[in-house]
Amino acid sequence: MKLAFFDTKSYDIPGFDRYAIPAGIEIKYYEPNLNRDTVSLANGFDAVCVFVNDTVDAEVVEKLYTMGVKAIVLRCAGFNNVDIKACEGKLRVFRVPAYSPHAVAEHAMALLLTINRRTHKAYIRTRDFNFSLQGLAGFDLYGKTVGIIGTGKIGRVFADICKGFGMNVLAYDKFPAANSGLNYVELPELFAKSDIISLHCPLTDETRHIINADSIAMMKKGVTIINTSRGALVNTEDLITGIKDRKVGAACLDVYEEEGDLFYEDCSGHIVEDDKLVRLIAMPNVIVTSHQAFLTNEALDNIAATTVNNLTRFFSGDPDTTTEVCYHK
Ligand code: NAI
Repeated sequence: MKLAFFDTKSYDIPGFDRYAIPAGIEIKYYEPNLNRDTVSLANGFDAVCVFVNDTVDAEVVEKLYTMGVKAIVLRCAGFNNVDIKACEGKLRVFRVPAYSPHAVAEHAMALLLTINRRTHKAYIRTRDFNFSLQGLAGFDLYGKTVGIIGTGKIGRVFADICKGFGMNVLAYDKFPAANSGLNYVELPELFAKSDIISLHCPLTDETRHIINADSIAMMKKGVTIINTSRGALVNTEDLITGIKDRKVGAACLDVYEEEGDLFYEDCSGHIVEDDKLVRLIAMPNVIVTSHQAFLTNEALDNIAATTVNNLTRFFSGDPDTTTEVCYHK
């Protein structure tokens, strides 16, 4: 079984080798993303392994299919970058539904604590022997209201973490979880009552730009918005306007609408062309991390184990239907 592995980073290789070699899977690690320009690299392989910023649109799917590729294994949970409809009847698609909800939820809390207590600024100040506290005041999380949009695996871990801080948790989900003990409300109420809003729903046509000028208008002045899900849940231009209007007090962004060509790359020696991202990064009340919420040792190990299991089960004629992604009309 031959696997073409796209968008490889050095931290991917040890875990995948650990599981793939004993399973008899031969992996070719490619640095480039999978997209229309690079799809020919998959020629002669049985399957492709992709990550969040690979672009598996209908054209790429068609080319993979004609080259004889049989499966796409996503080494992530979200699958908005794969045209699932185009794969129907041609390629089977598998993902890693859960590798560590704790990793992502803990990162969301780390961002919130950092932006609120300005630890990122304090760290730089004390390294320069500047011990002034000017501008470092935050607020107690205890007693504040957090609104969680999407209460699946990650959203619920985040809710538990917030409860540990003594926060009031409001939740919204299209499919509320039974017996979760969560206080579900409709979106307008969540927007109006939350001091902090954290996004944990997938990116779909319905959730695209769920944070926009209209929803921001409903929010409390000074609200903190956290996005560790997918960039396009937030209309970046509207967020920037909300921050400039002093309506949005802070934003913590692990994901960004146009992250595809930038995140995971070292662009420090380049002039970044994306003015919206540059504007966000220049704001004192915004923290951007480069889609790293998943990045813990435990998560990397689970990702490799599940992906290799997805491949071996599919190619041995016993596909794991719990990890398969199918098109729903
Ligand atoms: P999950 O599938 O367990 O939960 C998603 C929840 O969103 C479900 O409860 C679902 O009912 C809900 N939902 C679906 N449509 C909705 C809508 N229109 N409005 C509100 N809620 C809706 O997924 P999980 O594992 O909790 O992951 C959530 C998201 O986190 C993923 O879709 C992915 O985009 C993102 N993620 C980000 C990572 C990072 O490194 N930053 C890593 C892993 C996931």
